[in-house]
Amino acid sequence: MNVDSLLMRMFGRPRGLLGRLGGFIMAHTKGTFTPWVIERLGIDPGERVLEVGFGPGIALRRLAEATPAAFIAGIDSSQEMVEQAASRNAKAIAQGRIDLRLGSAERLPFDDESFDKVLSINSLQVWPDAGAGLREMRRVLRTGGGLALGFTAHSRQSSAGLVEKLSAADFAEVRLIEMKQGFCVLAKALP
Ligand SMILES: C[S@@+](CC[C@H](N)C(=O)[O-])C[C@H]1O[C@@H](n2cnc3c(N)ncnc32)[C@H](O)[C@@H]1O
Repeated sequence: MNVDSLLMRMFGRPRGLLGRLGGFIMAHTKGTFTPWVIERLGIDPGERVLEVGFGPGIALRRLAEATPAAFIAGIDSSQEMVEQAASRNAKAIAQGRIDLRLGSAERLPFDDESFDKVLSINSLQVWPDAGAGLREMRRVLRTGGGLALGFTAHSRQSSAGLVEKLSAADFAEVRLIEMKQGFCVLAKALP
């Protein structure tokens, strides 16, 4: 196995023992980056929030514990990550505040305009079709709703071209914010 497929098995599409290890590493190495992205997105009381590619579920836990979101949904294409995130967020799931799905960004199993905010951290760079995933995120966001895409420095995602991709998926007011650990792109869903 070469380095690229090893990294993909651990982090991009976590599977098996390597995927379990990848989940553990992802859960313990982000530092303040995830809270920083959530803070930039800004969640208002009672809002419905979706995270795409939630991995081990650290952002989901932060959303449930430190924001006034009423409901948080998550989708990830890795069974291993769904299990790790479910065990990490068991209480909020039991209370009906978090709902986790196994599935892909390119076909979100949610109604049109059913979320106020959508976020994704270190995930879009491994989607088979990023354009389709962004269009799906726009579809499930209410008009005027907010999007945040976060990427740490080791994600291998460049900020170049992201504004154009977001505009093509009907997002507007795109803003790039950088910090030492990585960057975040914020945008609003156009009518
Ligand atoms: C590098 S991990 C990041 C996980 C988490 N967001 C974090 O920051 O710790 C990428 C995640 O995206 C998920 N993923 C990859 N392709 C996906 C797709 N097409 N749709 C949904 N999730 C996907 C992977 O299963 C993995 O959990």
